[in-house]
Amino acid sequence: MSTVYLNGEYIPKEEARISPDDRGFLLADGIYEVTPFYDGVPFGMDRHMARLLRGLCWMRIDYDTSGLEAMHRRLIDENGLAGAPTSMVYLQITRGAAPRTHYFPEGPVEPTVYAYAKAWSRPSEERWNQGFTAATVPDRRWGRVDIKTICLLPNAMGFQDAREAGADDAILVRDGVALEGAHQNFWGVFGGTVVTHPTTNHILPGITREIVLELARGEGLPVAERPIYTEDLRHAEELFFTGTTGEVKPVVEVDGRAVGEGVVGPVTRQLAAAFQARVDATCRAAATVAG
Ligand code: PDD
Repeated sequence: MSTVYLNGEYIPKEEARISPDDRGFLLADGIYEVTPFYDGVPFGMDRHMARLLRGLCWMRIDYDTSGLEAMHRRLIDENGLAGAPTSMVYLQITRGAAPRTHYFPEGPVEPTVYAYAKAWSRPSEERWNQGFTAATVPDRRWGRVDIKTICLLPNAMGFQDAREAGADDAILVRDGVALEGAHQNFWGVFGGTVVTHPTTNHILPGITREIVLELARGEGLPVAERPIYTEDLRHAEELFFTGTTGEVKPVVEVDGRAVGEGVVGPVTRQLAAAFQARVDATCRAAATVAG
């Protein structure tokens, strides 16, 4: 049985009740975060919480986030995930329950805060080494996808379209630019340079993206933050996604056409190894502090 967090309480999931008037339910008036844990140690927690706070401010949801890190840790512990190699906490904050209006509620309304923890598993080494396929689909999202709102219908539709086309993942395309995946950032290697879209209002500023950019620079790889045009995809030496739970995920085929030689490339492997090393170092540092 899983324990979830709802509005200050840790309760069995079966007992969690959310009002039908909740503005998250009625209007997708909410925001979310997904924070990874490795061996029970949070990875990139500060960055995830900072992104959440930026989003809350932009949405004008007044909520004190100072207790969230402790809440995340407690959920991991209470769900027996402290020893899990890979787990995560999903957190959602909505504007709260109020009679349905298109403007914000006039009186003070408590935000609804819900979170759960669960384990996730990596693909096997063999599966990862085969690489993954992707299909390009139109990006039907709104103009502020840099805010991690719960309005994910266009992401879900894009992902579903890609799956129905027989691909493992979707690449969202707007005005000829391959922006990002349905739930991951998108990267290419062109002439040896590691390229990913700049952080504009048309992509989510992924925490994994930020970390992998730092790692790529640390590895001495040439890096550029610029758009990747769909017409350039066929010239890519390598393509990959990054994201929480996907980590560094190689793409070896797009719309039925092989990427480069159609195998996982050396830069993708190098960055995946650097990412794993960063995770290991974070876990070791936490173990040292714990004494
Ligand atoms: N998705 N782009 C989009 C559209 C995303 O939804 C996500 C994350 C990312 C990667 O961000 P990060 O590296 O911070 O996880 C990029 C989460 C995990 C989800 O929806 O489950």
